[in-house]
Amino acid sequence: MQIFKTKLELTRFLSSEKKVKSIGFVPTMGALHEGHLELIKQSKKECEITVCSVFVNPTQFNNATDLGNYPNTLKEDLLKLENLNCDAVYIPKVNDLYEENEKAKEFDFGTLSSTMEGEFRPGHFNGMATIVEKFFNIIKPTKAYFGQKDLQQLQIVKALAKQTNSAIEIVGVPTIREESGLAKSSRNALLTTEGKKDAMLIFECLNYCRANKNKGIDFLKSHTKTKFGKLKNFELEYVEFVALNTMLPITKWEKENENAICIATYIDGVRLIDNIIL
Ligand code: PAJ
Repeated sequence: MQIFKTKLELTRFLSSEKKVKSIGFVPTMGALHEGHLELIKQSKKECEITVCSVFVNPTQFNNATDLGNYPNTLKEDLLKLENLNCDAVYIPKVNDLYEENEKAKEFDFGTLSSTMEGEFRPGHFNGMATIVEKFFNIIKPTKAYFGQKDLQQLQIVKALAKQTNSAIEIVGVPTIREESGLAKSSRNALLTTEGKKDAMLIFECLNYCRANKNKGIDFLKSHTKTKFGKLKNFELEYVEFVALNTMLPITKWEKENENAICIATYIDGVRLIDNIIL
């Protein structure tokens, strides 16, 4: 596994691999867990070379404390990537990617970025798309892998690729979960044992909605809110039933597999998000 600290070194390496037909790219912010590693595994299966980036992107944080507290486990991350035979890792410093005082670019993703994470984390998607576009321009991957766990991000990256007339194929990878059903996330480590047990309610509710689709959206929405309301340490930010292609709330089901239920909640102050497509 080769490690690159600058885009110059990375692009030199990639252009020296002339015979390579396909490059798979997995962007991450580190603190790698099995969710991230699944993206690497899929890229390894489908592409000749897999590049993973580990970079905590400052422009997508709307909260300086959140940015400052972002876990750094680089040593362990590199070991995990090495074990999967990841071919190249890009671990740049901020000044390799941003000019001094450079701000996020302003994108227009229409309704995709207007609800849920877009509403509660202002500026987040502009920052995310800014760095993803930079990575795409540097690495020029054949395919790029994103988790369904961050569903709105995945849909926005697909829109970004379209808007920039990019040939990059955006691959969505299903959410990897703990045995309990809790979606893997680096934030799970911040939960207490009790909080982790309570957090199972998120996937339980999502599954209940899947199994009881015929009860209708209004009922399922208020059922979920009631369930969440019963736990004192929960603070539900949103539960939204949306159309997959617009991310706008729906009152009636769209066709099979074109609906998503998305939840964001704080548990003991730790913010978790999850979703299912149905
Ligand atoms: P990060 O939160 O590190 O996530 C990197 C990738 O891992 C994302 O595509 C995310 O959806 C995916 N992922 C996280 N948990 C997952 C799980 N349980 N199952 C499957 N995939 C999972 O998302 C970002 O970083 C950043 O916004 C980034 C795209 C790197 C741009 O800075």
